[in-house]
Amino acid sequence: MIDISKMAAAVQPSATLAAGAKAKQMKAEGITVYDFSLGEPDFNTPDHICAAAVKAMHKGHTRYTPASGIPELRTAVARLYQRTYGISYTPEQVVISNGAKHSLHNALAATVGPGDEVIIPTPYWVSYSDLVQMTGASYVLVPTTLESGFKMTPAQLRAAVTPRSRLLMLNSPNNPTGAVYTRKELEALADVVLEKDLAVISDEIYERLVFDNTHATCFATLRPGLAERTITISGASKTYAMTGWRIGWALGPVSVMKAMGNVQSQQTGCPCSISQYAALAAIEGDQECVERMRREFEARRDLVCARLKKMPGIKSFVPGGAFYAFFDVSAHFGRTLAGRTVTDSASFCQAALECAHVNVVAGAAFGAEGYVRLSHAASREQLQAGLDRLEQFLQ
Ligand SMILES: Cc1ncc(COP(=O)(O)O)c(C=O)c1O
Repeated sequence: MIDISKMAAAVQPSATLAAGAKAKQMKAEGITVYDFSLGEPDFNTPDHICAAAVKAMHKGHTRYTPASGIPELRTAVARLYQRTYGISYTPEQVVISNGAKHSLHNALAATVGPGDEVIIPTPYWVSYSDLVQMTGASYVLVPTTLESGFKMTPAQLRAAVTPRSRLLMLNSPNNPTGAVYTRKELEALADVVLEKDLAVISDEIYERLVFDNTHATCFATLRPGLAERTITISGASKTYAMTGWRIGWALGPVSVMKAMGNVQSQQTGCPCSISQYAALAAIEGDQECVERMRREFEARRDLVCARLKKMPGIKSFVPGGAFYAFFDVSAHFGRTLAGRTVTDSASFCQAALECAHVNVVAGAAFGAEGYVRLSHAASREQLQAGLDRLEQFLQ
């Protein structure tokens, strides 16, 4: 018998992946499931990006690359930030990893450990707490609600700081809420970060999926000296519909990027060579595909919001970005829906899946009991049909 380590035993399987698996099983049994649980664009990777990968294979780019990524891609990412946000990074300040999730892991592994505290506003992306725990550090959750727009205030941040606080994890646009902090709101948080001498991991993976003619803000640009204490994380997965290619990136101070590169060199060696060339083509190629997908996500956001607003016992929120609706279903707790007693967000989701064949994710997984997350990564027809079923279920 082999004992499982304390670290691994504490890790929970990803709740969003588990919800997807249950729906898959029902589909295999021939049931039509409206699966709104997944956090990945439903579009195929654009052709010119796939073509670049094929070309890379034929050119022999099939070997190990430098641990932190090929110089061309590190340079392209640095140029992207100059172009988009006017912030200067050298290629040495960029590390390419196997997806943004891996970038987050490397960033945490390089900066925190036992005895350190990491501040995470809730609701938060399911992996944050587990990724922090894996380093031996602990996390402090700062709750936000629908009423406050799912945004942490400077006063809340200040109150969460203790002598052990090292790092703040920010995520705007946010998964699961779709909340997008304004520049002003982020500046106010930046002032507390500087005042309290914190470092920041700013997860900006949904930066290109923002609605209502607004733009995402790059946190590191907001105040002098902030870039020296900020690790910016993003990647190709959501912007270019490239989830399976596993390419994410981090930008930050040279010393931290060196440490992250060292961790990665011992862990995975390097990110996939072929995917790196595909990501290079994505960043340097035509960006029309990004706008096309963004427009479709905005249309779906409008459709879903309009429907949810009319549903009984649902308090909804208009997301400014990403591709999720996060809504309060707690008015239904204590009710019997389609013969099932609903007591919390998990039993709500279970009943919705089993009775209405609609698959959504319980808010508890995101540190927000009482809420449910519905992903827009499905066609408008599927969304309409699934929302019809959800509405019938609630009635
Ligand atoms: C907030 C957030 N950060 C990071 C990631 C990870 O992205 P990747 O597929 O590049 O690892 C996700 C994916 O769902 C996410 O929602």
